[in-house]
Amino acid sequence: MDLLIKGGTVVTAAESFLADVAVDGGKIVAIGKDLDVEADKIVDATGKLVLPGAIDAHTHMQMPFGGTVSADSYLAGTRAAVCGGVTTVFDYPVQHKGETILGLVGSKKEILEKDACCDYAFHCCITDFNEGQILEEMAEAVEKGITSYKCFLVYKKEGMMVDDGMLAKILLRAKELGAMVNVHAENPDLIDLRTEQYLKEGKTSAWYHYMSRPEFVEAEADKRVVHWSTHLDAPVYIVHMADKEGLEACIKAKEEGHELYVETCPQYLEFTCDVYKREDGRNFVCSPPMKGQESQDALWKALKAGFIDTVATDHCPFQSYEKDWGKDDYTKIPNGCAGVENLYPYMLDAANAGKISFEKVVEVCATNVAKIFGCDNKGSLAVGKDADIVIYDKDKDFTISVDNMHSDYDHTIWEGKKLHGYPVKTFLRGQLVYEDGEFVGAPGMGEFIKRSPRT
Ligand code: URP
Ligand code: ZN
Ligand code: ZN
Ligand code: ZN
Repeated sequence: MDLLIKGGTVVTAAESFLADVAVDGGKIVAIGKDLDVEADKIVDATGKLVLPGAIDAHTHMQMPFGGTVSADSYLAGTRAAVCGGVTTVFDYPVQHKGETILGLVGSKKEILEKDACCDYAFHCCITDFNEGQILEEMAEAVEKGITSYKCFLVYKKEGMMVDDGMLAKILLRAKELGAMVNVHAENPDLIDLRTEQYLKEGKTSAWYHYMSRPEFVEAEADKRVVHWSTHLDAPVYIVHMADKEGLEACIKAKEEGHELYVETCPQYLEFTCDVYKREDGRNFVCSPPMKGQESQDALWKALKAGFIDTVATDHCPFQSYEKDWGKDDYTKIPNGCAGVENLYPYMLDAANAGKISFEKVVEVCATNVAKIFGCDNKGSLAVGKDADIVIYDKDKDFTISVDNMHSDYDHTIWEGKKLHGYPVKTFLRGQLVYEDGEFVGAPGMGEFIKRSPRT
């Protein structure tokens, strides 16, 4: 054997139990009590939790957006990922006008083959129909393992928006091919209307980012997506859910037996819209914005009750000087915040505090993501799966600071957040890539995940 992790508590989405984990050739080959095997490397995990690597289903690395490019390169973002226990990221490459899906994916793969420090897959953002060619091309792309697509119902002026007609066509085509459609749901016309009014009135602080797209603006679009999805009988995945009314519509549809999935993000579980009243409110500007306490409470309740399928970060950091462009005009703030290195530690801290179970964290941060998006070898600790493994010390205290993160950004919304418990080791397909605060992997170790279509 290459590796034997001894004496830890193995956590799956279903249960936790004391066991050793044996790894060979990058795969888990045995899990059991007191395994009698020889290994080149033995790691003592006594008193620690042994978890599957997390899968961050939502990142934007080196993405052109808001007049700049998001601050984490693929190298920095994936390096940060493994230092927070994330062993796979799903990035969102955005199609340029006229570009093909395979052209887009090819250009990103070229960078990631050199730079990726963790495994990766893509949700391709469709922004241009290319006179219908995109629908044709989706078949070939699905065959090549690109089995999920993204539609933004906003970002009209950025040229990224998809209208209802396009959304319906993409939903139907994806259903036919066994692919998934991820949707960013907010109402663009309401945002424009409210923004125009606030600018006219000179209301330009970060608070008006929230006020221009409050709860009902997201809820309208969430409900529209639920409506399309249920009536077309096409599965859908709503990204970064942040409001109660939209969430309730999703829960109702789920209870009626429709196939739809809900993702939320740690920032919506931690912060409310009050952050936009802070002096540094612009640093928290992301879309959809953080909402009121009622929405946050609803998200936690739904998470515990099993109505939230995944928690992912929407990692899209920008540097302070870029956020400062919007000091006097919130519409000039590039949208997005950091998170990829904080996802697992934040959620596991919630489990450590008894708010949710460790099994639930594994379920929403790893197992469900793998299932929904067809990563057959990922997402849980079981014989035959990739040996993406995190060792977690429940007793280690950690305070998040930009100084102890492994990204390229210069500030974080998570600054000063105290966590009880922290990952101490991350293995990517059996290879140690993170240990006690240090990145010990190498760029290029990460591999593209060819995913299988839904059946
Ligand atoms: O503010 C955000 N979320 N920026 C990234 C792009 C998106 O909408 O997901
Ligand atoms: Zn989005
Ligand atoms: Zn996003
Ligand atoms: Zn403590």
